[in-house]
Amino acid sequence: MIRILPEHIANKIAAGEVVERPASVVKELVENSIDSGASRIFVETSGGGVKLIKVTDDGSGMSPDDALLAFERHATSKLDSGDGLFSISTMGFRGEALPSIASVSRFRLITSTGDGRGTSVSIEGGNIHGVKEIGAPKGAAAEVRDLFFNTPARLKFLKSRETELSHIAASVERLALAHPEIHFRLINDGKELLDCPPVRGLLERIAQVYGRDFARWLSEIKAGGPCRIYGFVSMPGRSFSDRSRQESFVNRRPVKDRVIQRAIYDAYESLLMKERHPASILFIDIEPSLVDVNVHPAKREVRFSDATGVQRAIKEAVTGALKNSENAEAEAFAESGMVREVQAPFDNISFHVTLPTWRGGQAEGRVGGGRGTEGEHQEKIPLHAERDAAPSRYTEPFHEFPMQVLDSYIIARSEDGFILIDQHAAHERIQYEKVKARYGRQGEVSQGLLVPERIELTAKEAALLEAVLPELKTLGIEAEAFGGGSFLIRSKPLFLDKADIKEVVLGIAGELESADVKGRADELREKICKSVACKSAVKAGKKLHPHAMERLIEQLFACEMPYTCAHGRPTVIKFGLNELEKMFKRK
Ligand SMILES: Nc1ncnc2c1ncn2[C@@H]1O[C@H](COP(=O)(O)OP(=O)(O)O)[C@@H](O)[C@H]1O
Ligand SMILES: [Mg+2]
Repeated sequence: MIRILPEHIANKIAAGEVVERPASVVKELVENSIDSGASRIFVETSGGGVKLIKVTDDGSGMSPDDALLAFERHATSKLDSGDGLFSISTMGFRGEALPSIASVSRFRLITSTGDGRGTSVSIEGGNIHGVKEIGAPKGAAAEVRDLFFNTPARLKFLKSRETELSHIAASVERLALAHPEIHFRLINDGKELLDCPPVRGLLERIAQVYGRDFARWLSEIKAGGPCRIYGFVSMPGRSFSDRSRQESFVNRRPVKDRVIQRAIYDAYESLLMKERHPASILFIDIEPSLVDVNVHPAKREVRFSDATGVQRAIKEAVTGALKNSENAEAEAFAESGMVREVQAPFDNISFHVTLPTWRGGQAEGRVGGGRGTEGEHQEKIPLHAERDAAPSRYTEPFHEFPMQVLDSYIIARSEDGFILIDQHAAHERIQYEKVKARYGRQGEVSQGLLVPERIELTAKEAALLEAVLPELKTLGIEAEAFGGGSFLIRSKPLFLDKADIKEVVLGIAGELESADVKGRADELREKICKSVACKSAVKAGKKLHPHAMERLIEQLFACEMPYTCAHGRPTVIKFGLNELEKMFKRK
């Protein structure tokens, strides 16, 4: 027999989706306050939000009738026709939150529209206990006690108070980031955890929420087009061990979205080390009809009608921000941990390498290509001069800079001090940008091999490589499985020039393990570039001729992103007068 469920049971069922934990209650109540036009939203909690959650605002408030109606299922003031569903500008619209929360707690709402009269509504486990008129200021105060008192299974599922509180704080922070013009405050057991008075801009709000130190290492994202993209991302080289500082907003609604996340990581490409994550606070303002916000009960997910377009736009916007980050250099330095105190935020720090002039530009060392031992065949910098082969003019007493130490690092003069360069990382960056540019120019033009190259792989590697053979082919590498884990390579991209295609394919096969690149030719292309760059870069432990060092430095600073290698490690550490004086306690 089919029955229509009584309303209080329907509400409890809806609560299962909408009210997952105390933080969900906070989110729904604060969103209601935002929708009511509040300029002040204060959140008070106790016992990880299980004992008490109280959200007070100075918004529009509700009339006595509305205060009761608000607890009816599907009662909302934010939608009046089905068409409205496709142009939503409020946080709420489903009319489910209040009845759901009230069905699993002891709820009290006190609200007034500011005419002196206020209404108090008490509800316990979905049953109305009392409605009365009381004096109250304009706005609303929602008090939720004993959450899940009548759903023990839910209660048991909750984590420690601290964990629940951290989720609450994250929800408030997220909404605070989206509304710098609103005063947010979070107090737990009488202790203030967050206080964000109204500020003019997003960066100031970020500083309130995450701290000033964090805010000074951000680059601004700004892009127009069919959707407006704005916000901040961490500068290249500044990374984090988790994703806790990544927030995305679509039309100011906090969302978790794979399309957005993918785009951000794509933009960082070679700038991140493995297992490291960028910070990003990213806003997308898009025509409401081009995004479906009604795909998740808690409205944490959205669906874009043109996901590919949005992804591309975000990637471009973030790439632009990274390229513009003028502080990249100071910042790679800070990441090295050498300096505790760093320059004031957004100082325009310029930095030039001064090369000694006494040598003129005439001396060209031997041009690379003679011996391919280090894979330098790609590169025309004479990197392989040995000390004993140095022309006599370099044996002058104490030649100044650049200078090599431990056969791996180069010391060079900078404007106000000196820099230390990791020769392998630096050369890898140079090679990477060259290879990428060449790949871009000559694209997928491939060159058949006279004699196919044969490689042997483990069964696992072979399976992974076989899965991406079609993508490899579009990138100019034709290979076929030959059984027993061996492959025959029949062609290579023209740009690879003399690089050993065998090594490159082996490198790719080895890297496939860690990433699923099937169907993602662009990612694969990236891997190829990195692999070629790494293989062809001068190794640590290799003596360099001073002239080769100069060329290396010149080429490094001609790069688009000189301060990190293709794998995200720093290439340069700077020692400025300021830092030196601090280190020697002169200051
Ligand atoms: N803090 C508040 N201030 C003014 N009105 C509110 C407040 N909270 C809720 N309301 C009213 O109650 C209605 C129901 O709220 P809710 O159940 O969260 O559904 P929704 O937000 O989806 O409309 C809202 O549409 C709004 O009219
Ligand atoms: Mg709501």
